Amino acid sequence: MTTPCLESFAAPQDGRLTQNMLDAFDRDGVIILRDFVRVSECERLRERALKLVDEFDEESVRSIFSVIEQTQLNDDYFNDSGDKIRFFFEYGAFDESGALVQEKEHSLNKLGHAMHDLDPVFNEFSRTAKLAALVESLGYDDPGLLQSMYIFKPPRIGGEVSCHQDSTFLYTEPDSCIGFWFALEDATLENGCMHFIPGVHKAPLKQRNFRQDDGKFVIEVLDDTPWPEDATAPAAAPVGTLVIFKGRAPHMSGPNLSEKSRHAYTLHIIDKAGHYPANNWLQRGPDMPLKGFGLS
Ligand code: FE2
Repeated sequence: MTTPCLESFAAPQDGRLTQNMLDAFDRDGVIILRDFVRVSECERLRERALKLVDEFDEESVRSIFSVIEQTQLNDDYFNDSGDKIRFFFEYGAFDESGALVQEKEHSLNKLGHAMHDLDPVFNEFSRTAKLAALVESLGYDDPGLLQSMYIFKPPRIGGEVSCHQDSTFLYTEPDSCIGFWFALEDATLENGCMHFIPGVHKAPLKQRNFRQDDGKFVIEVLDDTPWPEDATAPAAAPVGTLVIFKGRAPHMSGPNLSEKSRHAYTLHIIDKAGHYPANNWLQRGPDMPLKGFGLS
């Protein structure tokens, strides 16, 4: 069996996807657009994130995010972060005495989950005319920018992310979640780039994660058949690359055991016209309505 590979295109200047790109996106559930963002814009976002990290008091909170260990399940700091900017550590960030093993900027798993609404630099990066045109070309008339994350994948301790679908977390009826993953540094096989299983996005959702159930957050398994993980394709992504994927596209990434970080910024949109259940984990307060690329 040959290893599948993902289609990679030079990013369209105006953001609008061509028919070739749309066809590949429909077939594989994921496409790679090279040089979608200028390197200088990536640097600006990295600098902004590092400033936020610098201002964050690491003694104030010790919340760990790990897809493998599920440390965030029923953690209020995580559960309430849908309309905030919060800081989550890697599972391997602390030693037995509770001290950081590495410097602070190399200890964090991610920031989330409303960077795009609350921080002016992230807002500007997320709401460009080019990205709005891309989303329109995907057929979204009324998109809502639901979630953003700054992902560090730090050197040596960057955690593995097991195979999952993002609609598992950002569930809508009908399914409308699309993920936009911007490489702010080179993502390679060595530092834990994403891998996808192309074509499998057409299968149903396998889980609903962190569904609220009587005051608790639960993982609801809808289908426990294993993923065909022998059919994965790497999404190596040089800085400036945008990877777009459907909410049901299964993807994963290995640990980062290398000496290089793998910073990325992700943004997830949904169709505002669809139903967003009140028992999804990610909720926004009344002062933080779901907005599109403009003011509403
Ligand atoms: Fe994901």
